[in-house]
Amino acid sequence: MVIRSSQYIISSPEYTKCPEPDRPEYAFIGRSNVGKSSLINMITNSTKLAKTSASPGKTQLINHFGIESSPTNKAEIIHWYIVDLPGYGFAKVSQSQREKWKKMIADYLRKRKNLVHVFVLIDSRHSPQQLDLDFVNQLGEWQIPFSLVFTKSDKENQRTVNTNVKSFLNALRDTWQFLPQQIITSTIKRTGREKILQLIEEMNTEWLSGEGE
Ligand code: GTP
Ligand code: MG
Repeated sequence: MVIRSSQYIISSPEYTKCPEPDRPEYAFIGRSNVGKSSLINMITNSTKLAKTSASPGKTQLINHFGIESSPTNKAEIIHWYIVDLPGYGFAKVSQSQREKWKKMIADYLRKRKNLVHVFVLIDSRHSPQQLDLDFVNQLGEWQIPFSLVFTKSDKENQRTVNTNVKSFLNALRDTWQFLPQQIITSTIKRTGREKILQLIEEMNTEWLSGEGE
């Protein structure tokens, strides 16, 4: 897949205010500071499409980006959305603010009609964290399709990254019969980009073939 263009569309405080659900949509979520906005920039080949920050809690609304892409070696243009969501587990906001975000994200994930797939980002430097496992299990209960993206893999040696990925999958085995797709990424080394784009391309094709049913 070739990205032709990407642009910021709108930031919404709730799912009802999001753009018309007229094209396939992919959301990126994970705890605060895990690298969601950086990953979106890497995927779209831009440096400042999504706002990144060294301090957690930068992204606070449902942010829509409109993407135009073409299948490799084809001129055809496919339109789809990327969504940057606020991180969960950000401690430095009030309890009431956190509850509000939680509801905003839950409503969005459960009710957004054109949401095809969620990419859940997990920091590859750490052993499995309960907060991430809880979130993934929640998605399972809601029957929302997702993949796991292990971020910042350049910050640790490959062995540690692989061990952390394995432990996370092992922790999921308790409750899951089938394990989700995993992708290891680094925005510094630009790894994982092709795999994510390939997954999105496959899902776009599927979505478009089912349109109007
Ligand atoms: P919030 O919106 O606050 O929840 O954060 P976020 O998940 O969008 O994270 P963001 O993309 O803003 O990145 C947080 C910090 O991690 C920034 O300082 C990034 O430069 C850094 N970062 C993100 N991805 C990578 C990576 O793959 N490798 C390295 N070394 N740093 C990364
Ligand atoms: Mg962000």
